[in-house]
Amino acid sequence: MIQFNKVKKVYPNGTVGLDNINLTIHPGEFVIIVGLSGAGKSTLLRAMNRLHEISEGEILIDGKSITKAKGADLRRIRRDIGMIFQNFNLVKRVTVLRNVLSGRVGYHGTMRTLLGLWPKRDIELAHDALRRVNIPDKAYVRADQLSGGQQQRVSIARALAQEAKIILADEPVASLDPLTTVQVMDDLKRINQELGITTIVNLHFLDLARKYGTRIIGLRAGKVVFDGPVEDATDDVFAEIYGRKIQKDELLGTVEA
Ligand SMILES: Nc1ncnc2c1ncn2[C@@H]1O[C@H](COP(=O)(O)OP(=O)(O)O)[C@@H](O)[C@H]1O
Ligand SMILES: [Mg+2]
Repeated sequence: MIQFNKVKKVYPNGTVGLDNINLTIHPGEFVIIVGLSGAGKSTLLRAMNRLHEISEGEILIDGKSITKAKGADLRRIRRDIGMIFQNFNLVKRVTVLRNVLSGRVGYHGTMRTLLGLWPKRDIELAHDALRRVNIPDKAYVRADQLSGGQQQRVSIARALAQEAKIILADEPVASLDPLTTVQVMDDLKRINQELGITTIVNLHFLDLARKYGTRIIGLRAGKVVFDGPVEDATDDVFAEIYGRKIQKDELLGTVEA
């Protein structure tokens, strides 16, 4: 479970990134966060694993305060949280397998991982993860030889090898074409359903949010302005979240309603 209690984030220049956020996200949920550019979506996700420090309030992960955690405790909480980025964040010049194995770093000392001395179980986990995202044959290919969609699958596999209980995906399909977008979203959804991994996805395209989300959270100027089941996220609600009518570039256009 992820809990936000009165969370506020003010950037050093005075910009309010998050304003009094109170949220509870339950295990196994598939949540989509929508909002205009600048609404605070990335700040919210990054606060969850403390890539960003918050200014006030507290965030609890499975009852433990990540806000107050230090050292080994912080590392242990973070180990349960996988991150997926728009630009994949892979090490381009090494194999797919090594990229996936890097999800295991949190379980071992740095020396061991630098030397590439991975236990057999880790290597099995990595191959399993690649099977789950349907690219088992790419294990020994260099990451930069893959298409964008395949690279994003590698980053999902890395989170699986990490044995993450929570996956945070910040605009995971923003650099992908429409067809690949649907494949990557299908992967995330399938993994959520099969493994019960709590998944939180920031998305720009509203039709995708509707197709994949079960719960939608709408942010506007750092505040939660909508939080409810996808059925309740009507066109009027989206217009409210965006502060205006929905525009064409906010629809992918290939998703059937
Ligand atoms: N490092 C930063 N320093 C100052 N302001 C920032 C920084 N990062 C983000 N912001 C501001 O915080 C607000 C929320 O940003 P962000 O979370 O990136 O929104 P989103 O992901 O929804 O586009 C915006 O006004 C943005 O300009
Ligand atoms: Mg963002």
